[in-house]
Amino acid sequence: MTSSITKVVIPAAGLGTRFLPATKALPKEMLPVVDKPAIQYVVEEAVAAGLVDVLMIVGRNKNALANHFDRNTELEHTLEAKGDNKKLALVAEASQLADVHFVRQGDPKGLGHAVLRAKSHVGNQPFAVMLGDDLIDARDVLLTKMLDVQDERKASVIALMEVEPSQAHLYGIASVEATEETDVVRVTGLVEKPEPGTQPSNYAIIGRYVLCPEIFDVIEKTEPGKGGEIQLTDALQTMIAGPIAGGVYGVVFRGRRYDTGDRLDYIKAIIRLASERDDLGKDLRPWIKEFAEEL
Ligand code: G1P
Repeated sequence: MTSSITKVVIPAAGLGTRFLPATKALPKEMLPVVDKPAIQYVVEEAVAAGLVDVLMIVGRNKNALANHFDRNTELEHTLEAKGDNKKLALVAEASQLADVHFVRQGDPKGLGHAVLRAKSHVGNQPFAVMLGDDLIDARDVLLTKMLDVQDERKASVIALMEVEPSQAHLYGIASVEATEETDVVRVTGLVEKPEPGTQPSNYAIIGRYVLCPEIFDVIEKTEPGKGGEIQLTDALQTMIAGPIAGGVYGVVFRGRRYDTGDRLDYIKAIIRLASERDDLGKDLRPWIKEFAEEL
């Protein structure tokens, strides 16, 4: 690892309407994936890449997030008194992972607007942005590679994944040119959620970005785009067109990604991850086979 980047911004102010009523009082980022909130996987991924200064952009309903990354001394004392060190370690873990800060988004005006809220915390250094709906399997490399590409090219870097054409309208889509490096591309254009059938490629942005700080000034001048929201994708398109601060590169990811923002994919993620776990997989795998035969 050569990068000196330590700051990561995690937008977590969405309303999570796809998971109502579960998300009526609970932020969607706190929904468990097996037995750990989705957001903890994301923070663990950040920390594994050296990003230990975490800024979460939160909404009105986000006390649960702050509590999760804080100590719970009452629970810790109870577990300590019982001598349950295993559970004690699980409770303490989230509060020891990283230095977690919070800022309110206020009026939620889109992903670009959420990222802009990080301007004073981030300052004049490159930084990462991670979206909580995308889980990247801890066994597959992505963020470290993106940080290396940022360091080498001194440009902004986005994570890309090839998707089925029928899915392209759900993502920011990139036009790309190959570079001399395998799976590193130069991004020549970006469009947020193109109308079905109009996408310039099948390279979709997945929720990992390493951005140059010039993005903040660009977002400030970015007009509302798709859905009337200030889109990060549109600001990145301006960085490309300039080019500003070296333009934008993409790292093509071919590993395992789970979309926990979609109900069906969320269920699939839980089944897959649980079936691979030492403590659950042995009993779960034969049950899945039996169940599949019943269908
Ligand atoms: C956001 C971005 C989009 C990106 C996607 C990845 O959209 O705006 O460009 O492809 O995340 O998950 P959202 O899914 O938040 O609507």
